[in-house]
Amino acid sequence: MEHAQNLSADPHCFDTAEREAFYKTVFTRRDVRGQFLSTEIPDDVLSRVLLASHYAPSVGFMQPWNFVVIRSQDTKQKVHSLFQTAHQEAAEMFEEKRRDTYRNLKLEGILEAPVNICLTCDKQRAGPVVIGRTHAPEMDLYSSVCAVQNLWLAARSEGLGFGWVSILDHRKLKQVLNIPSHVVPVAYICLGYVSKFHDRPELQTAGWRPRLPVQDILNFESYGAGAEALENHQLVENMQTRQKQLEEEGYQGSFAST
Ligand SMILES: Cc1cc2nc3c(=O)[nH]c(=O)nc-3n(C[C@H](O)[C@H](O)[C@H](O)COP(=O)(O)O)c2cc1C
Repeated sequence: MEHAQNLSADPHCFDTAEREAFYKTVFTRRDVRGQFLSTEIPDDVLSRVLLASHYAPSVGFMQPWNFVVIRSQDTKQKVHSLFQTAHQEAAEMFEEKRRDTYRNLKLEGILEAPVNICLTCDKQRAGPVVIGRTHAPEMDLYSSVCAVQNLWLAARSEGLGFGWVSILDHRKLKQVLNIPSHVVPVAYICLGYVSKFHDRPELQTAGWRPRLPVQDILNFESYGAGAEALENHQLVENMQTRQKQLEEEGYQGSFAST
C-alpha cells in the first residue's frame, strides 16, 4: 500500500489551518436546545448555510430536499404543541426509573429559535428509477440527511446553534406545513445564535448515555471483528489517544497534525 509521505506537498490537501477549521467545526458542533438568542439571522448568513446544505451529495444527483423556512410565531406555536403531545407520549415509553430524567431534558428550542427549518425529501423528484436507489429505496432519505449534516456544520462555522427536533408526529407536521403526501419531513430544525455551545453532548453530561470508545465501534474485515490484528494496533491507538484528549480536554485545535 502506498502512503502519502508529505501531505503538505499534495495539492489536493487543505493546509493545516484549513483542516483545523474543519475539525473544529466537527468536534465543536452541538445539538442546541436551550441556549437560543432572539437575535435575527442576517439573510447573507442564512443564505450561506442553506446553499451549503443544497450542495450535499445525493443518490443519482437526485437532490430530493426542500427547505421550508419558518419565521412565523403562529406556525412555531403549532409545531410546538405537536412536540408537547409527542413528548408526553414518549415519556411513557421509557422504563419508569428513566421517565423523570427524560421529562427534565430540554429537547427542543422551537419557540426561542428565530428560524425553524423543515428539511424534506421528495421521493418522486427524479422519477421512479434513480441511479443508486434501485436496490436501496431509502437512499433518497439518506441523501436528505446529508443535506441536514451540511447545514448543521455550516451553521456551527457561522456561530449558529442548530437543534434537530424529531419528537413530532410527522403526519400532523405535514398537515401544519402543507407538505404533499409523497414528500417526507426529514428534519425539523431550530436555528439561531446562542449564548453558549456546550463542550459535550447534553445527553452525555446528563448521564443518559456515554460516548462510545472507538475500540467498541471499529471493526476490521467483517462486522464484529475486533481490532486484535497487529497491523491495526497503531490506528486504534491513535484514535484512542485523540478520543482521550477530546474527552478530557475538549477540542484544543490540534487535530490536523496530531
Ligand atoms: C436524527 C436525529 C434526531 C434527533 N432528535 C432530537 C430531538 O428530537 N430532540 C433533541 O433534543 N435532540 C435531538 N437530536 C440530537 C441528539 O440528541 C444529539 O445529536 C446527541 O445527543 C449528540 O449530541 P451533539 O449533537 O451535541 O453532539 C437528534 C439528532 C439526530 C441525529
